[in-house]
Amino acid sequence: MRNNFFAVGGLALILALCINFFFHTAYFLTIVLIVLLAVGFINTTQHKHAILRNFPVLGYFRYLFEMIAPEIQQYFIERSTDGKPFSRNERSLVYQRAKNIDSTTPFGTQLNINTSNYEGIKHSIFPAVVNEDLPRVLVGGPDCKQPYAASLLNISAMSFGSLSENAVIALNKGAKKGGFYHNTGEGGLTQFHLQGGDVTWQIGTGYFGCRTADGNFDSEKFAEKTKHPEVKMIEIKLSQGAKPGHGGVLPASKNTEEIAKIRGVEPHTTILSPPSHSAFSDAKGLIAFIAQLRSLSNGKPIGFKLCIGQTSEFELICQEMVIQNCFPDFITVDGAEGGTGAAPLEFADGVGMPFEPALIFVNKTLINLGIRDHVKIISSGKIISGYSILRAVAMGADICNSARGFMFSLGCIQALRCNNNSCPTGVATQDKMLMKGLVVTDKSERVYHYHKNTLHSANELLAAAGKTNFSDVDSSIFMRGDEFTNLSDLYFPDNLTNVSRF
Ligand SMILES: Cc1cc2nc3c(=O)[nH]c(=O)nc-3n(C[C@H](O)[C@H](O)[C@H](O)COP(=O)(O)O)c2cc1C
Repeated sequence: MRNNFFAVGGLALILALCINFFFHTAYFLTIVLIVLLAVGFINTTQHKHAILRNFPVLGYFRYLFEMIAPEIQQYFIERSTDGKPFSRNERSLVYQRAKNIDSTTPFGTQLNINTSNYEGIKHSIFPAVVNEDLPRVLVGGPDCKQPYAASLLNISAMSFGSLSENAVIALNKGAKKGGFYHNTGEGGLTQFHLQGGDVTWQIGTGYFGCRTADGNFDSEKFAEKTKHPEVKMIEIKLSQGAKPGHGGVLPASKNTEEIAKIRGVEPHTTILSPPSHSAFSDAKGLIAFIAQLRSLSNGKPIGFKLCIGQTSEFELICQEMVIQNCFPDFITVDGAEGGTGAAPLEFADGVGMPFEPALIFVNKTLINLGIRDHVKIISSGKIISGYSILRAVAMGADICNSARGFMFSLGCIQALRCNNNSCPTGVATQDKMLMKGLVVTDKSERVYHYHKNTLHSANELLAAAGKTNFSDVDSSIFMRGDEFTNLSDLYFPDNLTNVSRF
């Protein structure tokens, strides 16, 4: 290929030079050919890229198409129901709710519902009246001096660093207007989180914001920060679904001087938080740490977030709660399908328990040990609609968190660029130019509307199921395709014959 390139290119150049000489024209073509041959020469002599060594100029098209593959996929190939991780229909639903415009759909479902995968709500023949008040849930066990009435839907952990300054401010202002909480993520509590919205301050293994010089937990800094009235709850992050057992990742391209200063780390380097905490190393230590944080924060609700892996370890933690008679006020269960700013593919695709079995397991374990009343369960994992909220509640959740749902409400287009600082919508980038595209006043309104309209939809579904309270919801109101295929075979094989007798 190289030889062909130089043979054809050389001949074309000779031809162009002849035309220049005899007809005094085609100068531009000559310059282009010289540049292409020079680029070709450089590429054939470099040692890094095999494609460019073999196809010195055409090889660039491969890189170009690879770069715009997600856009081609989304604009030309993706169907309404099959985008990943969220389908076009799901994204559109959030955009419509965030813009507070009609979010109805025409002509009926596009899903193939006559399959064993189908899942739906068993509605009641006598629906209840739709509650216009948005549901709230009180968090705080007997040892908590400052219980907090949380909304049923809140903003899941996403750090300043993984999200832009404008995105964090818009989220917090939206949370303030809608009366729901905004989880800081493990990157620390910053001035951008303190716009008046309720805050859950997350403490990760890097202890950003309450960190000693050598990277350990600093109790004084912690106690000082928890005095902010906006800080309503504190969440110890053990793991998250997209990378359980890995620890946070802040790519060097997003680690600006400002973020490095907030976190107390070296700027422009990739920051890998350790996979485990240095403040404790087992179940006993974790429960003791919860007690310590509760006392340091003057009794604010304390909980922990995890993705379930080895179930016996979670059972041990629960047993330790009983032994020490000390309970977290909440446990956040994150499904392995959860999102992230940056994670190794092996961890995103192959580690951790998915949302549904994890939530059912955690709920059942707490019930079996007789401690369910002490602890609220918060859940996250692709909760973006009223339907997914009701489903989470049916499986045991008291409260729901959404990360990517709120990113969509900010204008995220699922460009899949959170990890390389080039997010085109200014949501997940530290590039000041891109960030300017995200106008806080407009987007905070969208955050507010998305929350409000989604919870209203959850209220409507609750009423359709004939219920008036989310605490009355359990899995019996849900059905699966495989269930009624089997049930109709089992119990009603002759039902039409019976009907015809009357
Ligand atoms: C951009 C981004 C950053 C995140 N940062 C954190 C974090 O700092 N701490 C954490 O516990 N989870 C983090 N998560 C995970 C979310 O909080 C959430 O648990 C997960 O994405 C599942 O929710 P979702 O399906 O609604 O996105 C992040 C997720 C995203 C998309």
